[in-house]
Amino acid sequence: MTGRFITFEGGEGSGKSSQINLLKSKLMDRGIEIICTREPGGTPSAEILRELVTTGEVNKWEPMTEALLMFASRYEHTKNLITPSLKKGNWVICDRYYHSTYAYQGIGHGLGIEAMKMLKKITIGEIEPDLVFFLDIDPLEGIKRTQSRDTNEDRFENMDISFHEKLREAFLDFSKTNLENYIIIDASQEIDKISDIIFEEIKKRFKI
Ligand code: TMP
Repeated sequence: MTGRFITFEGGEGSGKSSQINLLKSKLMDRGIEIICTREPGGTPSAEILRELVTTGEVNKWEPMTEALLMFASRYEHTKNLITPSLKKGNWVICDRYYHSTYAYQGIGHGLGIEAMKMLKKITIGEIEPDLVFFLDIDPLEGIKRTQSRDTNEDRFENMDISFHEKLREAFLDFSKTNLENYIIIDASQEIDKISDIIFEEIKKRFKI
């Protein structure tokens, strides 16, 4: 594979979408072919699963069902979009990937990281992002930011604040086992400042 695979992770309202858009235009300015995509979702079939998990009552799914739906969506997305794009040499920037399942379902819902690792192995196997940016924001601040959004995809936002606090700790912890490719960014900074930090990191790593 010659393309680069970059993922963005974060709690609710951490500003991932804005950063992905800014990064996309900076990379395009350098003539790099970019596919921007998201999880859950990213392909027509995976988007159907997205709607099932992101809308409706907080308790509508058992945690394990939710984890399976996340990996079902990821399997569709990886097989039909991410892997073929990387093979063609495109860069893929993905709004969330498996670290979100480790954090939300593994730690937030208490299913455990080991169980999530097994699901990963069965579904998407060894694929790993080249680089993960975790945009770190205080959960209360993040959820406040999401409140002005006009969307029915609010199922996770409506979960208890203690759930969101657990996620944040989990996302921070992941850097301990992935020192090389997992970058924590303070998402309370100005948007342009964050974008500069991200782009500097990418220029340094990928020599563009
Ligand atoms: P988004 O709001 O960042 O687009 O993500 C949709 C929601 O899905 C978000 O609240 C986090 C949640 N989610 C999980 O719980 N597990 C996952 O594996 C993924 C990809 C997202």
